[in-house]
Amino acid sequence: MGTVAKAVNVRVDQFFTVAEARFDRWRSLLQAARAWEAAANQQRSDKEKHQGAVSASFAELRQWEDFFAFPGPALLKTLEERIASGDASGTARLAQSISTALLTHSYRTNPGDWEGEDQPQIAFADRVRGTEDSGAAHRPYFEVLVVSPARASAWAELGHELRKLRRAEDKFVYEPVFVGSFEDGVLGAILNGSVEAAIISEGITFASSHHSPVLREFLTAHLASSGMAAEDGQYGLALARGLKLLRPELDIYFLSDREVEKVAGDVSVDCIRRVFYQVEEPLELHLSILDGVADRFDTPYFNNLQKYAQRPIGTFHALPVARGKSIFKSNWIRDMGRFYGTNLFLAESSATTGGLDSLLEPTGNIKVAQDKAARAFGADRAFFVTNGTSTSNKMVEQALLAPGDIMLVDRNCHKSHHYGAVIAGAYPLYVEAYPLTQYSMYGAVPLRTIKKALLDLKAEGKLDRARMLVLTNCTFDGHIYNVERVMEECLAIKPDLIFLWDEAWFGFARWSPFYRRRTAMGAAAILERKLKDPAYRAAYQEQEKKFGADLDPKDKALLEARLLANPDKVRLRVYQTHSTHKSMSCLRQGSMVLVKDPDFHHVEEQFHEAVFTHASTSPNLQIIASIDVARRQMELEGYELVNRAIQLALDVRREVNSHPLISKYFRVLGADEMIPGEFRNSGFVDYLTPGTNWATAVKALREDEFALDVTRLTLVCGSAGFDGTQFKNMLAADYDIQLNKTSRNSVLLQTNINNTRSDIAQLIKVLVEISQRIEKRLAEGGSAAREAFAARVKSLMTDVPNLPNFSSFFSRFRENPSSITSEGDMRSAFFGAYREQQCEHLKLFSPEIDKRLKDGPELVSANFVIPYPPGFPIMVPGQVINGETIEFMRKLDVKEIHGYAAALGLKLLNPAFLQSAKTPTAGAAPPAKDNKQKSAGAD
Ligand SMILES: Cc1ncc(COP(=O)(O)O)c(C=O)c1O
Repeated sequence: MGTVAKAVNVRVDQFFTVAEARFDRWRSLLQAARAWEAAANQQRSDKEKHQGAVSASFAELRQWEDFFAFPGPALLKTLEERIASGDASGTARLAQSISTALLTHSYRTNPGDWEGEDQPQIAFADRVRGTEDSGAAHRPYFEVLVVSPARASAWAELGHELRKLRRAEDKFVYEPVFVGSFEDGVLGAILNGSVEAAIISEGITFASSHHSPVLREFLTAHLASSGMAAEDGQYGLALARGLKLLRPELDIYFLSDREVEKVAGDVSVDCIRRVFYQVEEPLELHLSILDGVADRFDTPYFNNLQKYAQRPIGTFHALPVARGKSIFKSNWIRDMGRFYGTNLFLAESSATTGGLDSLLEPTGNIKVAQDKAARAFGADRAFFVTNGTSTSNKMVEQALLAPGDIMLVDRNCHKSHHYGAVIAGAYPLYVEAYPLTQYSMYGAVPLRTIKKALLDLKAEGKLDRARMLVLTNCTFDGHIYNVERVMEECLAIKPDLIFLWDEAWFGFARWSPFYRRRTAMGAAAILERKLKDPAYRAAYQEQEKKFGADLDPKDKALLEARLLANPDKVRLRVYQTHSTHKSMSCLRQGSMVLVKDPDFHHVEEQFHEAVFTHASTSPNLQIIASIDVARRQMELEGYELVNRAIQLALDVRREVNSHPLISKYFRVLGADEMIPGEFRNSGFVDYLTPGTNWATAVKALREDEFALDVTRLTLVCGSAGFDGTQFKNMLAADYDIQLNKTSRNSVLLQTNINNTRSDIAQLIKVLVEISQRIEKRLAEGGSAAREAFAARVKSLMTDVPNLPNFSSFFSRFRENPSSITSEGDMRSAFFGAYREQQCEHLKLFSPEIDKRLKDGPELVSANFVIPYPPGFPIMVPGQVINGETIEFMRKLDVKEIHGYAAALGLKLLNPAFLQSAKTPTAGAAPPAKDNKQKSAGAD
């Protein structure tokens, strides 16, 4: 066996690239073998050179292949022998068939792929047991990692024994992959995305037969600090715990030769699905493996919906498309039926009976599907939502906030949160993200800002009203919080603060061992463990000696200190919302609320009220089914798919930034450009910086205040003379490329589990073409063209408007206008604007605006004004509009500004209303007569 040190150590992306790099290695071997074959008539020395190249190529890939079942030791041995014996054609043929089988995944279903021309037939019989019936349904294939202390020479026989257990009625088929140590077990789970289960035997050793210093350093640091170190040399149990940290979805079986009852009764091994006394019951083990995968495969709602669709059902309810008869028999709309196919309509129903369950009050298979989702995402509870995360957010906010509660929230968060505050009557206290003015976007909110807001609230005696912190993780542009640290330090100040992490874009992150710790649920799990650790308690007690049990909000040192929460007081209440449809295989609007809250039972009723308020009483069944299926996919192949999405993003980053032509005009911003150095304490610069390996990346993800989600790529196009919208439109119209949002001088691209290398190739090709066009234009247009180009680039890249901060709520909407905290009664302002006589309009460019800014009365926004881009409200109801905001609005060159009609001007609350006495009806004056008349006639 060789060494994986070089490959593991080279670049961070090599870690993500497991599957793709493997194809590349096989392709290199194949090319070398073909060249060798083609040199048949050349001189001996030439042929030897080719043979040497093939040998080197084979050695390069051989070291990784121990971690995969296919092609397996026998075929690899044949290949090695052919190379050694000088059989160029035989080498090329075998390399070709293996590469093809890997690329097409045919080896998962085609037993023939496993045989070489000279492989014995016994192997064939072994492989096909139970697959003889060609009409049988497709049986998904997976691999099982067997970590065994047995000598490597015994592995083939053990594998044979396992295969003998296959039965025709098995729903899945699996191949074992044998490794012999703790480190190789970890490598196997990391490298092989097809592994769905691991069988770990007691008595394994630690060290890998593959030399991998980066992994060793990582394991030593990571597992020890997570409390996962091996006790008394029990590497088997330590490995079980370690694998569960890396890939929580894996089923782990433990084979012990000691007192199995003791192992099984050990509460610290809850990561193990089943303990066996050695291989006492091989069939039981086999069935357990299949059962574990079947449990993840099972999609109770989707299954039932399919069954429902196949039954002959007469419908007398209000949903004519159900069963599709009105469509398929129609003279005019039959094409809709043809386009969507029959199943869509057969699976439509408005019933909640017949096994379809009710989303609003689930007791059957929706409930089971939700429980499975909770397990998959590491939550206590999951709720499916069919109206997008816009709705999920409002549900959570309405459920947990009451009028007058204070909600700390990033002003740049999605608009649903602002509306959530209005609905709940909560007072938003806006905390500001750091600006990235040059790119007309915001970063994320520094923890210091949040702590200061909490301490200020404490100083003013309002901390008890601060009920919730809402943050977007990751932000639209890819800024990821240090979720664990944010929660820990906030809880140090307010032990029962509730966290709502809007992970609309980040649901997939659960399946990346890198990102998981930075998700709401991943961080909550870490924090939960930490808070139970006696060492943490001791450290907290030290802190208490220094700062006291009751923190003094005036103590400036608190802002700098890394605060610990009081483990006896903390209530860790974590909510996460995500748009399943944004990052997983789910139909549009599929969304989830995840809950990890020990006090949920206190709010359960109001949570259901919020669901009843917002959820449609006619939820779309196909969306529910697709959420269920998305969960299945992520639990079974999420790890591999997410790795690939990350890898593709790294490929785009590297290609764009290093391409000699593209990089003259375009650039993808690295972590260092998106996150100022003060928030990257680990010293991390960017994923592609030379010297970065995956251990450095993990360190940064553990320590730094913010990290960048590499799959969100900010491509600067201002330097190519395009503003974001112009570039986006051009890509869509001329090149059929659709992308995410835009800023003044950039566009946001995103990779996800759907992307392929061909997509990336297309993008790169298009960028080359556009760059060539610019070159040509500049070359042919002479100095005039070059000057115009330079001026355009300067205007886009340097003449950028300052981003306005939140000013303040107008005094009428503040309880105490001299308060140092800025929360306000936005709801009163919002509904104040429902009375026309309380509003006025002023044209943006009118002199009246400048006069009012100078001499008053103050301009106070009547509504949300949200320009796209950047997509956050630069005015909220009740906000005082200052010169900065007006300047920003006047410079805005975007077409879409929600809440603002240029023809009418800015909608303001008028001075008469603002100066009038407050009414108990939250600011709304009694309806005016004409309003009454209007509404009377409206219906
Ligand atoms: C941060 C954030 N939260 C919530 C949403 C709303 O999600 P949905 O489109 O699923 O309603 C979005 C949509 O873009 C978003 O960016």
